[in-house]
Amino acid sequence: MNLVRSALLYASQNRWMRVRAPQYGFVRRSVARFMPGEHFDDALNAARELAAQNIRALVTQLGENITSPAEAAQVRDHYLSVLERIGASGLPLEISVKLTQLGLDLGDELCFKNLIALIDRAALNPGAATVWIDMESSAYAERTLALYGRARDTYPNVGVCVQAYLYRTKADIERLIAIAATVRLVKGAYKEAATVAFPRKQDVDENFFALAQRLLSNEARQRGVRTAIATHDRALIARICDDAAQSVIARPELQFQMLYGIQAREQLRLAGEGYDSRVLINYGRHWYAWFMRRLAERPANVWFVLKNLF
Ligand code: FDA
Repeated sequence: MNLVRSALLYASQNRWMRVRAPQYGFVRRSVARFMPGEHFDDALNAARELAAQNIRALVTQLGENITSPAEAAQVRDHYLSVLERIGASGLPLEISVKLTQLGLDLGDELCFKNLIALIDRAALNPGAATVWIDMESSAYAERTLALYGRARDTYPNVGVCVQAYLYRTKADIERLIAIAATVRLVKGAYKEAATVAFPRKQDVDENFFALAQRLLSNEARQRGVRTAIATHDRALIARICDDAAQSVIARPELQFQMLYGIQAREQLRLAGEGYDSRVLINYGRHWYAWFMRRLAERPANVWFVLKNLF
């Protein structure tokens, strides 16, 4: 992992920076590239524009590691009202949530109850909208997958994210295939030790491709596994599209997810060529840690932030 990336990931967890950085105008202006605004309405408007271009959207209210049951309940209630508004909007919009935002640090049962309330409500929306569960640092991986498994036992409309940089993901995917899971595959965005994650990007990319092949295999699809390939890596996307064409997977069956503001042209190209192209839109006030992870993914973004200083 290079030094800049490490420094940015370290900064993402720094309390002093978390309080101060958002107060600077140039930092706020830079964030605007990655999120249309701090309010759900900003995300909804962006989702409407994307829908007009045949791109479906997912929304996330930023925030993680809440520290009281009352805060977790607030987040749950916020998402319940968001699901209500999505239902009324008629847009094919889904939500993506972090379990530590629903109280995972306060106990599995509390978090699970909040999660189930959202899945139950989402099921009433058109097409029984999926509730996507983000994957956070590796310390939460086992509990996240266990809670996902419990939810999946009862509900079909729930998906979970897995990270190609973790060694454990190869085995986790077999567990997920066995329960006909809905899976979002990403490279991974947290600072992880070499004991748990591939340190070299090249190895992460190769593992991503191998995991995608397994998730899109005949066996997995016949069991009912649904997969979203979530990356902006165009070379990897091209490789996966070629491989899927050889396995005769129809384009609309191949789902890609990207983040708002990143590789927008590629999102459009995929939609135009008949693939299922989706964009995750973030909103909310607590964007600091998330924004630092976006900078770490592409340290050239730091120059973009500095340009906004002048
Ligand atoms: P890679 O980092 O190799 O980037 C490929 C190319 O994309 C770069 O060369 C650049 O051109 C462009 N690019 C990538 N990131 C950029 C950025 N920030 N700014 C500008 N250009 C950029 N992670 C996680 O740990 N848990 C999760 O739950 C999720 N959820 C999630 C959902 C969705 C829909 C996406 C797209 C991603 C996530 N991630 C995530 C983040 C993921 O783990 C990863 O950090 C980023 O997607 C960046 O990696 P890429 O796969 O894009 O490849």
